[in-house]
Amino acid sequence: MTRSPFRSIMIAIASVLVAELPANAEDDLESAFRGKRLAEANCAGCHAIAQFDESTLGAAPPLREIGSRFSPKELRDMLSGKVFREHAMMPDFEPDHQQAADLANYILSISDNRSEAHAKPSRRLHRM
Ligand code: HEC
Repeated sequence: MTRSPFRSIMIAIASVLVAELPANAEDDLESAFRGKRLAEANCAGCHAIAQFDESTLGAAPPLREIGSRFSPKELRDMLSGKVFREHAMMPDFEPDHQQAADLANYILSISDNRSEAHAKPSRRLHRM
């Protein structure tokens, strides 16, 4: 298998990130990447979905703020469908269990003010 320089760089960055993360970190990282794609496709029309952007729709709180207000479990529960049914403005989005977890992982990775926040690997994650 040939490796492009880009791929090697990505692997190097990923290994640094993984080294900073707790157990299951590799899974969490992949999950957060999938969550990022989901957010780009389904949430960016209204919510800010990165660390320094602004919401397109003023009424929609930036996802990073939502992430700092809820525990990981609360966030997963909300995102498993409830929140989309409760808020009239939100799209009909029915994520499956994995997608809800992926979104929660991504949102937590870009959130500040979290007690368990460690080395902030997300600062790099969201730029990839
Ligand atoms: C059409 C615009 C729109 C889209 C698309 C959208 N949202 Fe929202 N969302 C809103 C608005 C507006 C609010 C605030 C509703 C309120 O405060 O009553 C909101 C609220 C939320 C909340 C609740 C925050 C709280 O404090 O209760 C969550 C969580 C959320 N959105 C997540 C998402 C996610 C994840 C996606 C993508 C899968 C998404 N939203 C897509 C408009 C949108």
